[in-house]
Amino acid sequence: MTDLSLAGPGGPFEATISVPGDKSLSHRALIFAAMAQGDSVVTGLGPGNDVRSTIAALQTLGVEISRDRMRSPGIGGWTSPSGPIDCGNSGTTMRLLAGVLATSHVSAILTGDESLERRPMTRLIEPLRALGGIIDTTDTGTAPLTVGGSTHPWGASVTIPIASAQVRTAFELAALAAAGPSTIDSPPGFRDHTERWLEAIGRGSWSSPTAFTIDPGPLPAARYEIPGDPSSAAYLWACAAIEPGARVTTPSISLNPGRLGFLEILDKMGATIEAVVTGATGGDPVGDVTVEGASLRGITVDGGLVAAALDELPLVAVVGAYAEGITSVREAAELRAKESDRIDSVVEMIRALGGGIEPHPDGFDVVGTGFLEGGTVDTFSDHRIAMAAAVAATKSQGTVVIHDPDVASVSWPTFYGTLKSLWS
Ligand code: S3P
Repeated sequence: MTDLSLAGPGGPFEATISVPGDKSLSHRALIFAAMAQGDSVVTGLGPGNDVRSTIAALQTLGVEISRDRMRSPGIGGWTSPSGPIDCGNSGTTMRLLAGVLATSHVSAILTGDESLERRPMTRLIEPLRALGGIIDTTDTGTAPLTVGGSTHPWGASVTIPIASAQVRTAFELAALAAAGPSTIDSPPGFRDHTERWLEAIGRGSWSSPTAFTIDPGPLPAARYEIPGDPSSAAYLWACAAIEPGARVTTPSISLNPGRLGFLEILDKMGATIEAVVTGATGGDPVGDVTVEGASLRGITVDGGLVAAALDELPLVAVVGAYAEGITSVREAAELRAKESDRIDSVVEMIRALGGGIEPHPDGFDVVGTGFLEGGTVDTFSDHRIAMAAAVAATKSQGTVVIHDPDVASVSWPTFYGTLKSLWS
């Protein structure tokens, strides 16, 4: 794959840009609609390869999907596939489907690419088996996963040690097939898209700010409108935040509080943030977000903010390098379980660009000097590293060369073009 060379142009800009449909909501809408019997409509789906993995997996199970229309026999009519289901690079596809299938009659093997088959899957075992779900990993606790063929799942109450929306959702979808109600609790900060949707259709309710009870039963065929992805908009917000005098507006973004940690971080660092709620979809607030740049200062990111900014932490390193003072990220060991070990890959990226950064077991410290030289960056086959490096390039002294830039297609195939359009 050819390298990509990026240099500036940098400087103040003013732009209004729509970003692709939210990836987390796209996976969920597709799976909810596939579990329901009948015809559903899903508009605004995310365009990335991860969402395609979910579409292809559901088609293998017997769901008809064409453009934004879906027709499903309902989960009871799904068929066991003859070969493995390839989840590609998508952890969300694998973990959510593992949940749905674990308590279903369908038996399947879930595989993924090299990166996905390195990621931890044991976190699913205890919660899903607590429901009588059937799931097995390899001896190293990774995929391929063998799931499904459960006969009489029962209700259960579990508490998981990490604020993982993927594990929560896997459990919640599995629990819809149980004989009685189930409850899941976890630390705070997670994106609660699934809970909001289940609550909106009367299939669950909160018993504390973090504990959710699922009332089993079928899901209805429905219409889903996917808003813009805050994790994609974050790259544009970062470009504006690091450039005093710059301003970007991203319309119709999901404003789920579990997705807004990065805006809170930018606000604390000194950028000006405005979020105006314009509507709602599937229980999630939706609205327009404007970010204006300023001279930023370093801060510490930890606690619930980590889960609410999880996918944006590589960007926090870049923004931190362009701030004044130290930006520390802690209590974020979960970064090591992403598409790459994002503590190691962020450290390599910032160092390759001439910045100062020290790794910690659960995070990193970036030395903010307001300056990055440029250099050649390895993406570690991780879309979020590639895109964070491209943001760094908009303000770097010299050129930034990105190896394997096409990895951005996992979430946003036309990202580099959109980035350049900020200045056109
Ligand atoms: C996701 C949850 C997060 C996030 C991932 C998408 C989701 O992972 O990092 O990109 O859609 O539920 P965890 O739930 O594992 O923290």
